[in-house]
Amino acid sequence: MPVPLQTSALQESLTPRLELIEERLRDAVAQSDRLADATSRHLVDAGGKRLRPMLVLLASQLGEGARPEVLDAAVVCELTHLATLYHDDVMDSAPTRRGAPSAHEVWGNSVAILTGDLLFARASVVVAGLGPEAVRLQAATFERLCLGQLHETVGPAEGDDPVEHYIQVLADKTGSLVAMSARFGAMFAGCAPSLVKQVTEYGELAGVAFQLADDVLDIRSDTEVSGKTPGTDLREGVDTMPTLLLRRRVEAGVSDEVSKEEHAADVLLLADIDGDLSSDEVLASVVDRLRAHPVVDETAALAHDWAARSKAAIDGLPEGEVKDALIAFADALVARAA
Ligand code: IPE
Ligand code: IPE
Ligand code: MG
Ligand code: MG
Repeated sequence: MPVPLQTSALQESLTPRLELIEERLRDAVAQSDRLADATSRHLVDAGGKRLRPMLVLLASQLGEGARPEVLDAAVVCELTHLATLYHDDVMDSAPTRRGAPSAHEVWGNSVAILTGDLLFARASVVVAGLGPEAVRLQAATFERLCLGQLHETVGPAEGDDPVEHYIQVLADKTGSLVAMSARFGAMFAGCAPSLVKQVTEYGELAGVAFQLADDVLDIRSDTEVSGKTPGTDLREGVDTMPTLLLRRRVEAGVSDEVSKEEHAADVLLLADIDGDLSSDEVLASVVDRLRAHPVVDETAALAHDWAARSKAAIDGLPEGEVKDALIAFADALVARAA
């Protein structure tokens, strides 16, 4: 099952509201068609960390957190996230998600894609109740989610720096929705624009940190811990931060930091990464060699840098338990990759 996050006392006090969101989420995904109902419930029932609803609630504590719109905003964020997971698992040919077989493994690609679309439609219904500004923000986020996935798929253009390109992909495919979650929380709790701006920036940067930590987990953690299958991106030939850093290291050649032997091992590892990874044994050997590799430590360090930047973005928030909880939340997002 997915890794639980360490929670602060404030986060724990939000548990009853998270339970309400849970009910609302289940109502929102229910379908009258039996097949659609089963496929739509599949990932909600499988669990997940509910990070985005939690962030909506946390940010809402900066204002009037008890407003009913806040709960709807949290449902919109999780529904949007859920929809992307159905599509992402098709694109990544991921065998498992949230500890369960991914939807396309059970029902095939077409049904999984259509289920993602159904959930986007349901998110649209809920967001419509929150007014045109919310609809516009959700549409802009949706656009960035698609562009992030698209740019990840096509890779950097000639002359682009691959690491910078990848960070932009992470900001778009993950940062955008985490930012929206923080923004919705503050916005629907009636916070002043300066507070809304700070938490939005915080969410954007924390989202990048989170996804970098996810790159580490994809290599270092087992299915029982992450609910996902290690090496999925490698097998699909999708570069993540560790493989990008490995490419850069191989290109740089032997240096004060990299001995001749290490360089030779890196060249072999990269050749395996770019080779045929359809055999489980070859994939396991690549994952094993990467697990202990400095590029994975470097990725974890980058995750911490982005978490630090996200915390700096809320420097100007009033001191108190909400600010502390947001700081703890950013730390928890990357502590998973420690
Ligand atoms: C998975 O997100 C997709 C990413 C953006 C990394 P989460 O790790 O938040 O997934 P769940 O909701 O807990 O399953
Ligand atoms: C998921 O990205 C991002 C979205 C769903 C938009 P990944 O493909 O890197 O995440 P996991 O590892 O499958 O959760
Ligand atoms: Mg994926
Ligand atoms: Mg993906």
